[in-house]
Amino acid sequence: MQFEIFTSGLPQVQADCVVIGVHEHGELSASGKALDRRCGGAIARFLKRGDFPGRLGETLLLPAFPRLKASRVLLVGQGATEVSRRSWRKALSAAVGALAKTRVASAAVALTRPANRELDDYTYARSAVEITRAALYRVNDLKSGKKPAEPALQKIKFGPLPTSAARSGKRGIAHGLASANGAKIMRDLANLPGNVCTPTYLAEQAHALAERHASLKVKVLEEADIRAEKMGCFLAVTQGSEQPPKFIVIEHKSPKASRAPLVFVGKGITFDTGGISLKDPGAMDEMKFDMSGAAAVLGIMNVIAELALPMNVVGLVPTCENMPSGRAIKPGDIVTSAAGLTVEILNTDAEGRLILCDALHYARRYKPHTVIDMATLTGACVIALGVHHSGVMANDDGLAQELVAAGVRADDRAWQLPLTDEYGEQLKSNFADFANVAGRDGGAITAGAFLAKFTKGLRWAHMDIAGSAYVGGAAKGSTGRPIALLTDYLVQRARR
Ligand code: BES
Ligand code: MN
Ligand code: ZN
Repeated sequence: MQFEIFTSGLPQVQADCVVIGVHEHGELSASGKALDRRCGGAIARFLKRGDFPGRLGETLLLPAFPRLKASRVLLVGQGATEVSRRSWRKALSAAVGALAKTRVASAAVALTRPANRELDDYTYARSAVEITRAALYRVNDLKSGKKPAEPALQKIKFGPLPTSAARSGKRGIAHGLASANGAKIMRDLANLPGNVCTPTYLAEQAHALAERHASLKVKVLEEADIRAEKMGCFLAVTQGSEQPPKFIVIEHKSPKASRAPLVFVGKGITFDTGGISLKDPGAMDEMKFDMSGAAAVLGIMNVIAELALPMNVVGLVPTCENMPSGRAIKPGDIVTSAAGLTVEILNTDAEGRLILCDALHYARRYKPHTVIDMATLTGACVIALGVHHSGVMANDDGLAQELVAAGVRADDRAWQLPLTDEYGEQLKSNFADFANVAGRDGGAITAGAFLAKFTKGLRWAHMDIAGSAYVGGAAKGSTGRPIALLTDYLVQRARR
């Protein structure tokens, strides 16, 4: 799929189909009006009949109008004339979905955009590509029937942008493509079932990534290496599983980078049964998504390599299964982390923090500028924030705010939760340095507080993506979040 921006008026653009917005009461978008003038008011006369009142997300494909180059016009309902990021996303997704069902090969899209203060030209182009690619995403399913035909759509042009914005628009498209490719890598991995996407498979995919990009180097620590690193918490989680654990290290080195590296850490539980603290069977299948953090690390490393960002970045992925077995850890077991701190495992289902704490300790050897971990860590985060915001916790408020701001610009939102000392005190254990759980209250934050015990002296943020990384129900699948947020964060950071 090719993406371009256009700076001329819509009637001058060459495309099979022009896509224009219709607001409540059949009022045309600004570009729609320009187009309508070209064809002598025929579109407005049609709208006046009231068949297409412009309800948000509705679409209607019309045949050619007089004096138009395009052979079709797609009307897209945009609701109120005041357009938000959310309503724009919904309208654009609907437009792309409708185009994909036709034989249209090229389209010029000129929907009403949110106001400039909400969406500048660069971010407009980047988001438009992200939204389009997300709307065209098809899960690589394992159904035996015939696959539906590929859409005919080959090219989309977005606009009109002022001529002065042509450069930022182009840059936005390049960044949007990288972001969309990263999100696709994440989604494809996370959507795979646990019997296919094993720790070994993730390690293979990391190697494959490095083969595609010269700037990436991959190293995989095997169980013996993990033992040599004294990652007792990580080993405790994997010990009930027949699948060998892997600790994946992906490095992006840029000749232009001078600063200490940024380290991403991703939770890679390829299936979380809960272990001996077994989960309820309802929706347990969704625990195949418990490697979404790991998938996000692979996705974001691809973004960084594709854009050749002038920074050094390391991706760390501890990956294993959490299974019950005769060899599995039991509630009350005490293990020693790589950092030397002892942990009483009161609940074997709080396994994510156990594999992450050893990975966070491993990050220290890079003397990192910043460490960001991503994990489907707690159901409590979903209770607190729902699925609309990722949770952000940090030992550095500036970092948390940078991530939250990136989420706003990328429309991939995150919300900061407080990480004050009291939460860490809830993890008291009678027998070890601390326990891995602290009861139900503030569960997302006590999980963050557990990780915070291993990140003293590091500039660190934790993103709980349990609610945002995938959706359940009829549209069950990975969302590719928070790749868009992180892409924005990295692009901003590369400028400074
Ligand atoms: N992977 C789960 C968290 C999760 C739950 C993600 C629901 C997405 C949806 C994690 O390993 C877990 O089981 N956490 C426990 C922690 C508890 C035992 C303190 C949880 O959230 O119930
Ligand atoms: Mn668990
Ligand atoms: Zn888990």
